[in-house]
Amino acid sequence: MTLREQLALHPRIELTRRPTPLQRLDALSAQLDLDLWIKRDDLTDLALGGDKPRKLEFELPLAIGAGADTLVTCGSSQSNLARLVTAAARRIGMECCVVLSRDEHTAMQANLLTVQLMGAETIIVDVEDHWDLESHAVTACSALIERGRRPYYIPVSGSTPTSCLAYVDGALEILQQASEHDVEFDTVFTPVGTGGVFSGSLFGFHHSDRHPTFIGVSVNRDAATCRRNVERWWGDISGLLSVPYKHLPAHIELTAGFVGAEYGDATDACLDAIIDLATAEGILVDPVYSGKVFAALFDYARAGRLEAGSTVLVIHSGGVPAIFSYADKIAERLRQRGRSI
Ligand SMILES: Cc1ncc(COP(=O)(O)O)c(C=O)c1O
Repeated sequence: MTLREQLALHPRIELTRRPTPLQRLDALSAQLDLDLWIKRDDLTDLALGGDKPRKLEFELPLAIGAGADTLVTCGSSQSNLARLVTAAARRIGMECCVVLSRDEHTAMQANLLTVQLMGAETIIVDVEDHWDLESHAVTACSALIERGRRPYYIPVSGSTPTSCLAYVDGALEILQQASEHDVEFDTVFTPVGTGGVFSGSLFGFHHSDRHPTFIGVSVNRDAATCRRNVERWWGDISGLLSVPYKHLPAHIELTAGFVGAEYGDATDACLDAIIDLATAEGILVDPVYSGKVFAALFDYARAGRLEAGSTVLVIHSGGVPAIFSYADKIAERLRQRGRSI
């Protein structure tokens, strides 16, 4: 069976139109001496887009199958997942409860504003690590059960073995579009939070006999932890798609060099990447995920770590609403660069 046939055995609901655009970045290609492309998964069309609609298309049939009536999830106060799980819950007629960690971004704007607009029950908790909210989500599920509801828990980032299939499918979509544009990628950049986007897309490329170097840009963890997570997803995906297990390909690189002090740290390199991309191409990225990926791309290109003229793809996984909660930091960087009003 082909990978596509294996994927088709997994139920899926429709939450976004596909394919999302694959675009060439002409101005940046010229600036960086690359043949640079972007996969616009910021343009999935559920409530301001991102990677989650694809993941939820595969995950939510499990919630429906389990007879759930309420989706529960967790994340930071500006969680993209909270926005998109709430939107998906509304689309399929369910309730939603989100457990968010308190940080400096709890003003009613950006993702948090959208969550409130769509009416999720919102619980704010104090934790050390924004990615360590599971026990609080379990408590929220127990409280819901006591109230007679049937919760279904979607873990941080929406990554589960099943939802990772979404980016195997996403990779097949990219490869189809690439062949229509007659382009083959030498290098692919993706963000790495839990590693779902990275692992799924790597799997899809690798099992289609395409072997670009995959560069995963961590937004939170050290490189060794990222690698352990990727190995776990890789095994899970192999099992779900009944593909004989192969070891992780050699041509991957996981870098924690762009995280900054902690998750969500809008480093100068990240802010500059946001400004440079917006100025060159009119494309917006956020300081938490996609801005970090572009910071890595700029750094690799300027350091001569990408061969001149080579073909490079960046997967833009969305997260754009967060630019509004980082407006002060972005404005300050613009001022430092002489662009103030
Ligand atoms: C916009 C965006 N990109 C990427 C990620 C990380 O994806 P993954 O956890 O699959 O590595 C997230 C996680 O929340 C996200 O919100």
